[in-house]
Amino acid sequence: MEFEFYSNLIDRYDSLKYEILKAQTFSEEHYGFLPIYYKVMESDRTRVSAFTRAFDHYDFTDKIVCEAGVGTLALTKHFLSKVKKAYLIENNPDLKNFIQEELEKNGWQDKVEVIFGDAMKVGLPEKVDYIVGELMSIYCGNEYQVQIFKNLRKYLKPDGKLLPEHITNVVQLANIEFEKEHKHYPINFTRHLPEQLSLHQVVNEIDLYQVEELKVKKTLEITPLLSGTVNSVYMHSMVQVAEGCNFTGTDSLMPPTVCKLENPVQVKKGQSVRLNVEYEFGTSLDEAKFWVE
Ligand SMILES: C[S@@+](CC[C@H](N)C(=O)[O-])C[C@H]1O[C@@H](n2cnc3c(N)ncnc32)[C@H](O)[C@@H]1O
Repeated sequence: MEFEFYSNLIDRYDSLKYEILKAQTFSEEHYGFLPIYYKVMESDRTRVSAFTRAFDHYDFTDKIVCEAGVGTLALTKHFLSKVKKAYLIENNPDLKNFIQEELEKNGWQDKVEVIFGDAMKVGLPEKVDYIVGELMSIYCGNEYQVQIFKNLRKYLKPDGKLLPEHITNVVQLANIEFEKEHKHYPINFTRHLPEQLSLHQVVNEIDLYQVEELKVKKTLEITPLLSGTVNSVYMHSMVQVAEGCNFTGTDSLMPPTVCKLENPVQVKKGQSVRLNVEYEFGTSLDEAKFWVE
């Protein structure tokens, strides 16, 4: 039947609304992500190509590279054949055999040191030219991108580079119905987009070479373009992996996300309001606070 697959998908749109949220949740119980999330990440060409373009932007030939959180080597396999030496860090024990088998299959084992441990704590035996780490989540709210790069950048040569290097987080005032048990959810299908009542505004910029403070506390002045009820914020993260090699969020990584306000408020087109934002890197968006006054 024509459109059979599409028709089946439409029937499931609503039940799929929270599937990425469930699949992406980092769980202490299984020491990392579920196998389904690796599949989501590997199959996302937009996400992978943001990194492969950045690898091409620099020249990794004969360089010393460290990658944190290598997962199923979806990014790693694009640079390993070129480099002189690589330190690969991963703390999900379920991936140990897979990583070792892949390295042996490709004959990379002699130039690779695999460190099974916590990238927030491990040390490296020498300085490196590049540090790669895709441990990102929207606003760096859930994952430990900031903490991990704070630890590893000590081992970067003076002219070395971090990939990614810079993240800009932006916000819009929004309104959407939430199911009771959820405080936030990433957008999987555009029909779950909230009504957006203002333009994007910058909340904070994260310079991964410099960032020290883990807590973010901001107040923004926002002028709504529409009158109505605001009960949430609509969040995007814009990532510079390398200059000119950008990533602005897909369903597999930093999906644009809706997060509830502490309390709903009425706003009027053209009358500015103050949006307060408080959250901490590497905690949970369930603990993040957004409120309008
Ligand atoms: C978002 S996934 C990305 C995987 C892979 N880099 C890719 O792009 O396909 C992040 C990976 O980092 C690992 N990870 C998370 N926190 C870590 C930590 N503190 N130390 C080492 N690995 C970590 C997770 O187990 C997961 O495999």
